Amino acid sequence: MRIKYTMPIVFFVALVVIEKENKIISRVSDKITSKHTPQDPPQPDVFSHLLLKRNASFPLLGKDFVLMKRRLENYSEVMKRGRQHVLLLATTRTGSSFVGEFFNQQGDNMFYLFEPLWHVEKMLTLETGGTNATASAKAYRDVLQQLFLCDFSLLESFIDPLPVNHITTALFRRESSISLCEESICSPFVKGVFERYHCKTRRCGPLNLTMASKSCLNKKHKVIKSVRVRQLENLRPLAEDPRLDVRFIQLVRDPRAVLASRMVAFAAKYKNWKEWAMGGNVSLDFAEVMKLKGNCDNIRLSAEVGLRQPPWLRGRYMLVRYEDIARFPMRKATEMYRFSGIPFTPQVKSWILKNTQASRETSGVYSTQKNSSEQVEKWRFSLPFKIAQVVQRVCGPTLKLFGYKFISSEKMLTDKSISLIEDKGFTF
Ligand SMILES: *[C@@H]1O[C@H](CO)[C@@H](O)[C@H](O)[C@H]1NC(C)=O
Ligand SMILES: *[C@@H]1O[C@H](CO)[C@@H](O)[C@H](O)[C@H]1NC(C)=O
Ligand SMILES: *[C@@H]1O[C@H](CO)[C@@H](O)[C@H](O)[C@H]1NC(C)=O
Ligand SMILES: *[C@@H]1O[C@H](CO)[C@@H](O)[C@H](O)[C@H]1NC(C)=O
Ligand SMILES: *[C@@H]1O[C@H](CO)[C@@H](O)[C@H](O)[C@H]1NC(C)=O
Repeated sequence: MRIKYTMPIVFFVALVVIEKENKIISRVSDKITSKHTPQDPPQPDVFSHLLLKRNASFPLLGKDFVLMKRRLENYSEVMKRGRQHVLLLATTRTGSSFVGEFFNQQGDNMFYLFEPLWHVEKMLTLETGGTNATASAKAYRDVLQQLFLCDFSLLESFIDPLPVNHITTALFRRESSISLCEESICSPFVKGVFERYHCKTRRCGPLNLTMASKSCLNKKHKVIKSVRVRQLENLRPLAEDPRLDVRFIQLVRDPRAVLASRMVAFAAKYKNWKEWAMGGNVSLDFAEVMKLKGNCDNIRLSAEVGLRQPPWLRGRYMLVRYEDIARFPMRKATEMYRFSGIPFTPQVKSWILKNTQASRETSGVYSTQKNSSEQVEKWRFSLPFKIAQVVQRVCGPTLKLFGYKFISSEKMLTDKSISLIEDKGFTF
């Protein structure tokens, strides 16, 4: 009984102590400006849920604390090197894996992480199947902030099973991050140890997160891709953290195409929708329609904040439509690189050339290798008109903001000579 109550307190105290340390170091550093508002430490409510779910030990205590302190001491040094931090924000089925590759492929100076928040979402998923948006938003923000500083300790506490001595076999899609499978953090292969997300380019043992952190500190550029952040506004503390100098790229896609893609990827889940569209004797699940509306609204609200350019976001936000990337991959990649301040390397160029003109053989549902300009229109032949109308009804303002034309008839939907994408530049 007592343990249950003391543990969250100990944890909280540890975080407060670390935060204090963090502030002292920040004060020393020369780049701190008076407009910087110090962060709140992660809220205990996020962790109490985590604690209830897992009989956890705390990776932040003891030896790790010393390690973390050292890393904090390195922050001011990190800042002087002109490093770039980019958060690629998207939602599912918007081509974010594909666009993430533009950065993953950059080269030796890139530290790229693919969906690290997957672990956080999984751990914070309630018995009801949903998450508490307020609690998740805080956890996402805090984990992202640490990761940009090459600190994996908070993320570790969300990985299941809990890493032992910072070694894990379970980091989600490790192999999707070139930097996590590099020679320097490839520990010797251990026979008989199963690693679900193992490296494909070389045989490595379980991931040593201390090594990953060291490697990260040595890289100039850090890019994290996530489909889990719902509101850009929630990330304001990241934008205001002068240690990070972070830039946000929001990737959006026509919600009708997103739904069409989901209906293919999660066919069972959308059986009802299909039946309804075919004129079957079923009604649409109201909750599902509201969820669609909620997603559209979140994306639009984030973009509205970004495009409004409040002082905290000035020069830090870029909106990109997937359709433009698919049609003009090289041009859009160049723009994204220019915005982020990261050098556009020949490796990226050749990856784009290879993968936007690739043969169709390897294009599975989750594949990034596809003829992208062909992909961009495909949904028009799989999405029933009735469902397109539902999307237009609940996502109207979102379509309008991003310049996606409304479809008024079944004929228009499948008439490829009519483009549904307005030429729209988003100025910053
Ligand atoms: C939780 O941790 C306590 C103290 O370490 C231990 O006695 C107990 O058996 C653990 N419970 C579970 C379910 O692992
Ligand atoms: C700071 O980081 C560098 C690598 O970027 C490392 O060599 C050095 O040991 C670190 N210093 C401390 C005090 O951890
Ligand atoms: C969600 O979390 C917040 C704090 O993080 C808490 O105040 C609120 O009661 C929670 N809501 C629900 C429905 O559990
Ligand atoms: C993980 O890497 C660190 C840093 O290279 C090293 O000190 C530590 O021994 C490694 N852990 C294991 C279990 O190999
Ligand atoms: C990709 O698809 C478009 C549209 O169908 C087609 O015009 C183009 O030739 C294709 N490119 C390649 C390299 O297959």
